[in-house]
Amino acid sequence: MEVLEVANYEEMSMTATRILLNKMNHTQKVTLGLATGATPRGMYQMLVASHQEKGVSFRNVQTVNLDEYVGLERHHPSSYHTYMAMHFFRWIDIDRSHTHLPNGKAEDLTLECFRYEDLIHHMGGVDLQVLGLGRNGHIGFNEPGTSFHARTHVVELARSTRRANARYFAREDEVPSRAITMGIATILESREIVLLASGSGKSEAITRLLEGKIQHQFPATALLEHPKVTMIVDREALIRQ
Ligand code: GLP
Repeated sequence: MEVLEVANYEEMSMTATRILLNKMNHTQKVTLGLATGATPRGMYQMLVASHQEKGVSFRNVQTVNLDEYVGLERHHPSSYHTYMAMHFFRWIDIDRSHTHLPNGKAEDLTLECFRYEDLIHHMGGVDLQVLGLGRNGHIGFNEPGTSFHARTHVVELARSTRRANARYFAREDEVPSRAITMGIATILESREIVLLASGSGKSEAITRLLEGKIQHQFPATALLEHPKVTMIVDREALIRQ
C-alpha cells in the first residue's frame, strides 16, 4: 500500500483528480468505481472543472458506484443516485446510460445484488476504484465484521453510520436502516484502488489501518491484501491517535 501524505483536503482532491485523469488518458475505455460522502466531493468538483475549462471528455468512461440506500427512490434528495447526478454526472459529457448504481428500490433485493455483480463483470471489471473511509473502518457500506469474501449484498447499517450520515437527511430517523453495497471481495477485484481520507475525524481509522494488521472488525484492512492501493491522506488525518 502506497501512502501519499498531502497537506490538506484540496491537495488530496487534486492528487486524486490527477490519478483519475491519468488513468483516463492511458486507457481506451475506462471503468471507474465511484464513492459518495463528503470526502470525494472536491475531486468531483475538480474533474468537472477539467471538463468545463480544459475540455476533458468523459465519453469513454463508464462508472459503477459502491452503494445505495435501500428504500429510497432514485430522485430522493438524499439518494446516492441524486448525489452522483448533482455533484458529477450532470456537469460532464458522460453517457448517462454508462453510469450505474445499485437500485435500492428493487422488488427483489437479492436479485438486484446478483444483477449488479453481473453488470460489473460484463463491464470488464473496475479499472480504478475510489474509496472513502468510514470512521469505524467501513468501506462502501461494509460494516465491521463483514466477511472479506462477501460480494454485492444488503447490509444493516451500524447505528454510528446512520448517525454520521444523518447530516444528509432532514432527521436521523429518516436515514434508511439498510443499503446495498459492493462486497469487500468485489472491491478487492478492482485493478487499482485509491483511498481518500481527510481531517481529524479520520485519524483514528487511519492509525488503525496503518498498523498493517488485517482485522475483520475493521473492513478497510482488507485493502492490505490488494497489490495496488494508493492512500491519499492529509496531515490532519495522519496525526496518530
Ligand atoms: C458513507 C459511504 C462511504 C463513505 C463514508 C465516509 O457511509 N457509504 O462510501 O466512504 O460514508 O463518508 P465521508 O466521506 O462523508 O466521511
